[in-house]
Amino acid sequence: MNWPKSVTIKEVGPRDGLQNTKSVLSTNDKINWINQLSQTGLSYIEITSFVHPKWIPMLADSLEVAKGISRVDGVTYAALVPNKRGLEKALDANVDEISVFISASETHNERNINKSISHTFPILQGVTQEAIASHKTVRGYISTVFGCPYEGKISISKVLHICEKLFEMGVYEISLGDTIGVATPKQVEQVLDTLLDYYSADSLAMHFHNTRGTALANVNASLISGISKFDSSIGGLGGCPYAPGASGNLATDDLLYMLEAMEIETGVNKNKIHRAALFIQEKTGEPLSSHDSKIVRNVLE
Ligand code: HMG
Ligand code: MG
Repeated sequence: MNWPKSVTIKEVGPRDGLQNTKSVLSTNDKINWINQLSQTGLSYIEITSFVHPKWIPMLADSLEVAKGISRVDGVTYAALVPNKRGLEKALDANVDEISVFISASETHNERNINKSISHTFPILQGVTQEAIASHKTVRGYISTVFGCPYEGKISISKVLHICEKLFEMGVYEISLGDTIGVATPKQVEQVLDTLLDYYSADSLAMHFHNTRGTALANVNASLISGISKFDSSIGGLGGCPYAPGASGNLATDDLLYMLEAMEIETGVNKNKIHRAALFIQEKTGEPLSSHDSKIVRNVLE
């Protein structure tokens, strides 16, 4: 097999992880946690989102969090932004990178951001243009690429159309989201087979949720297809509140275990990730779903 020699892990725990917890963490705990993550060797952390606080109350303190963390050189600090109002705050906080998002499913897009896909494009275009003019890089997410909780299977032509629009706007990379964790390795291979006819592997990242336990298998299928950038969340925290059935992201600790064992470099220190996982578990009061953290917890307890 032709696996890549190194992989970039994009940690989305402070955003995707914390947007779906039962309890709301204090601003200080979020800041402490992100500061710990900055010392793990991760080169990319999505620290929060600047969405409407009524829609995602758990991240209502995004500005305080983004302004309160200690930045480490070499780490890219990103934030999810739905519109110009969110961008203003992200620029005020001076994050390094803006993530825009849209769904391949019309219904999920409506439920998630209250707009049709066609009405979302000009909004994202405005955000992207302004962010680039402010010297920020912009990443695009496409949700429900592998299936939608409302519409079921999503055709690849819809995904291709959105990719085209996002790249035209100026995003440098698209993260393909399996929002509700329905993807299988076969489907991943098929989707990537099509997309890689149009776009380079370097311009794509994968964003798996582990709802049905297929996330690592999907990572392996992606690696074999040539992808080397993966979004994950420490301990497997996460999920989209506007996608019924969505559960945690692919866990950073499980991903790291597999990549290390496969001798694929990440630059991330597993022990430090475990400590950060135990920290957030104590603060949320919810047992983490990742396999690796459970093992470490049993050893430590
Ligand atoms: P809306 O109600 O249609 O907004 O919500 P609007 O544009 O009509 O404005 C209504 C009011 O909200 C106005 O205030 C705006 O200023 C204000 P008023 O004038 O009435 O006082 N407003 C804002 N306030 C704060 N921050 C903002 C903002 N924008 C408008 N950014 C909106 C539209 C997009 C705001 C809303 O639907 C929203 O915030 N949705 C976010 C939902 C969300 O965060 N979902 C989870 C993230 S996506 C995900 O998890 C998937 C992903 O992980 C990939 C995967 O797994 O596949 C990325
Ligand atoms: Mg997600």
